[in-house]
Amino acid sequence: MDFDTNAFRAALGCFPTGIAVMTAGSVETSHIGITVNSFTSVSLDPPLVLWCIDRRSRRYPYFAEAPAFTVSILASGHKAVSARLAGQGEHSLDGIALAPTELGPPGLADSLAVFECARESVQDAGDHAIVIGRVLKFSRNDLAGAPLVYFRGRYGALAQGEPTEDLPARRATDID
Ligand SMILES: Cc1cc2nc3c(=O)[nH]c(=O)nc-3n(C[C@H](O)[C@H](O)[C@H](O)COP(=O)(O)O)c2cc1C
Repeated sequence: MDFDTNAFRAALGCFPTGIAVMTAGSVETSHIGITVNSFTSVSLDPPLVLWCIDRRSRRYPYFAEAPAFTVSILASGHKAVSARLAGQGEHSLDGIALAPTELGPPGLADSLAVFECARESVQDAGDHAIVIGRVLKFSRNDLAGAPLVYFRGRYGALAQGEPTEDLPARRATDID
């Protein structure tokens, strides 16, 4: 039976995701980044996350070898940055607003959350590799607004940032 890879990709695109940028150090350039939507949580204890990288990517050798990487969860205002770091060979962070981290590669400024990770393992899985990171530090920015969303091959956003449970819900009568 023929397997229609394009149709498979399109069907996978029916699963809406957020967008993250992974940043890591590199010997040749100071820091590099890549836009991904394969980021997901794995374990709370120990705290583990994963993402998948295409082994044909020019960025694969850097991220497979990097002892540490930083995950930035993008906000709806990051669309241009996301598109740039998804460009072929566009891995430099030059000119992108960054936020320093305590442990390693910088995160992107104004991200919804940032996770500073040590590489736990890299495992081949077909044409991609699964990169598992152990979260050593993290931060959350509830003022960053709505997330950048990806669905059926297009960027979108939730209508508004969802209030989190530990923040008081806004009422129609609230005054800024
Ligand atoms: C919305 C979106 C999500 C993506 N997610 C991933 C991903 O999870 N893993 C990956 O390896 N590439 C992903 N890519 C592709 C990379 O961002 C980038 O386009 C690719 O690595 C470019 O090739 P290069 O690394 O050889 O320059 C995604 C691209 C877009 C636009």
